[in-house]
Amino acid sequence: MGRDFKTIGVIGLGTMGAGIAEVFARHGYAVVGVELNDETLARGREHLDHSTGRAVARGKLTAEDQAALLERITFTTEIGEVKAADLVIEAVVESPEVKKALFQQLDGIVREDAVIATNTSSLSVTELSTASSQPGRVIGVHFFNPAPVQNLVEVVRTVVTEPDVLDDVAGLVRAVGKNPVVCGDKAGFIANTLLFGYLNHAVAMYEGRYASREDIDAAMRFGCGYPMGPLALLDLIGLDTAYEILDTMYKQGRDRLHAPAPILKQMVTAGMLGRKSGRGFYTYEGPDSPVVV
Ligand code: 3HC
Repeated sequence: MGRDFKTIGVIGLGTMGAGIAEVFARHGYAVVGVELNDETLARGREHLDHSTGRAVARGKLTAEDQAALLERITFTTEIGEVKAADLVIEAVVESPEVKKALFQQLDGIVREDAVIATNTSSLSVTELSTASSQPGRVIGVHFFNPAPVQNLVEVVRTVVTEPDVLDDVAGLVRAVGKNPVVCGDKAGFIANTLLFGYLNHAVAMYEGRYASREDIDAAMRFGCGYPMGPLALLDLIGLDTAYEILDTMYKQGRDRLHAPAPILKQMVTAGMLGRKSGRGFYTYEGPDSPVVV
């Protein structure tokens, strides 16, 4: 008999963490959402209010269900509160040092049988697992942005992940209406390995002034049926995140397709991070406002 997950700890309530918290709370799970300080906690709560409010405005959620959903989430800056969790998912900054320190800290907090998961998109789950005293219970759960919408979760096993942990986590992913795909621990996993070569190529095309940003995006939307063009998608993902993912994949696989296009680094250095900073390949009024320039 598999684990009966009831309480999910989510550490880090940025774009991905808040989206992950929403997914579990929406499916009736108790969620403990942890942030570093009151300011980032307020931002995380705002993200959840906004996202669920939008669902209410679109008639997808009643106001009562929204209130019940938010009620299921405990917002806290006390990491010790995740001691009640059956599964803890970390979605903090993509830094091996920060994540490993967190895994060590969790050792002294969580139950011995709790599962520890990372939402990393580019770091080695195996390396992160070495910071835990229970590496067999460490696993990758890679959600896609926006997490409440995208139906894929990559479940990443390391060479030491216990088979029952893999089965139970894949079952949980199904229980929240997502499709799990299982893969090994290689930078990029399945989807980003395939997606980012394409995105990088679009950036190089734009950088070489081969076509306008609008025409590059229109080609893939109207010619290939993609919901967004590659440059608009990069703005959604965040150019800093995209750069890190490409850089890590390139260093690991040396596939030229993944050598980040130079302009990407320049835009990141200039603070053009995409939607979250208001400017990337396009300019935005707010995190989900229409393109204004
Ligand atoms: N949070 C919650 N819900 C959201 C949302 C968000 N940020 N953005 C959109 N939605 C919901 C809307 O409420 C709406 O829900 P409904 O159908 O139940 O009413 C639905 O999504 C469609 O939204 P819109 O009508 O506003 O807009 P679109 O139809 O243009 O869809 C999109 C927006 C879902 C972002 C769509 O364009 C899309 O799927 N784009 C591609 C996204 C993608 O490829 N993501 C993967 C990126 S790679 C990644 O995340 C990996 C990581 O490691 C970097």
